[in-house]
Amino acid sequence: MADNIMNYETVALDEEKGALVIINQTQLPNHVEILSLTEIKDIWDAIYLLKVRGAPAIGVAAAIGVYVTANRIEAADYDAFYAEFKKAKDYLASSRPTAVNLFWALDRMEKVVLDNKDKSVADLKTLLHDEAVAIKEEDIWVCKSIGEYGLELIKDGDGILTHCNAGQLATAKYGTALAPIHLGAEKGYKFKVFTDETRPLLQGARLSAFELHSHGIDTTVICDNMASQVMKNGWVQAIFVGCDRVAANGDACNKIGTSGVAILAKYYGIPFYVCAPTSTIDMETEKGEDIPIEERPAHEVTEMWYSKRMAPEGVNVYNPAFDFADNELITGIITEYGIARPPYNESLKEIFEKKKNVNK
Ligand code: MRU
Repeated sequence: MADNIMNYETVALDEEKGALVIINQTQLPNHVEILSLTEIKDIWDAIYLLKVRGAPAIGVAAAIGVYVTANRIEAADYDAFYAEFKKAKDYLASSRPTAVNLFWALDRMEKVVLDNKDKSVADLKTLLHDEAVAIKEEDIWVCKSIGEYGLELIKDGDGILTHCNAGQLATAKYGTALAPIHLGAEKGYKFKVFTDETRPLLQGARLSAFELHSHGIDTTVICDNMASQVMKNGWVQAIFVGCDRVAANGDACNKIGTSGVAILAKYYGIPFYVCAPTSTIDMETEKGEDIPIEERPAHEVTEMWYSKRMAPEGVNVYNPAFDFADNELITGIITEYGIARPPYNESLKEIFEKKKNVNK
């Protein structure tokens, strides 16, 4: 079995080299390749090509990426520094459209620059460093807290189904949807996890299965179209998925196929939980239909994982990377500040109220 992936950092800052360090997830499960990136073009590519992926990990990578870029800006004064910083920020923000954590993290970094107009360029660089480190550290706490809330909803021996990878590989540590499973495993619970392979990019088969299996957790990979059968067999007591953006009404956008899993869960009466850090909840977006859905190239569907083409040359391909589960299909949205229940228009506001009070 491969090294326990829990011993690796998904995304990190190499202080000495001034580099963003990531696991190249396109090489998993076959190689654990570590990349050290200093050029902004390479950082943009790493996000676009899913070398680093998963909403929280994208946010952390963008924060570290914009810091390492800003740290090399040579500017005589604030205006010159901010102009270069903004260019870097906007460029990284164009790498993927759906996960709101990307914009959330980059906006946080920009706020540091905007709030400190009186500081020297050297001081601004230090403040950006500290903010990038804080974004990463917070993600670890946030995921652990989501894991603890999630663990209250399941018991030893349960069967759990997940879609895509919302695990350690998608965050700074533990994951969101996989956090309850990792934390439970550390307490000796024996879960049986079903990972949808998650076509077309196979985040379930390549990443979740690898992550869980390497952590010694009982893991079974199923093709996406087998989920109904597994639920019908009575093997699934709960479903945990991550998300890329939750709208204010609770519609939750996640990897393509998530809405189908949610519909099946409703049919079979299985609780369907969305695990969402507050950084993934976008109260500015009213409903799921308003969330921009990334469309990706056709070759991911027709060729990418096959030894030869699996669809005729020139055929039309539709490849949306995400869909959203309607709020009425969601049993609960697990955040670091507790579990929101329907009606989400109210409960999500309460979660943000709680966050504000805790951080007063
Ligand atoms: O395209 P990806 O691999 O970045 O999609 C990832 C997902 O859909 C995850 O479920 C989501 O980002 C949550 S990660 C904690």
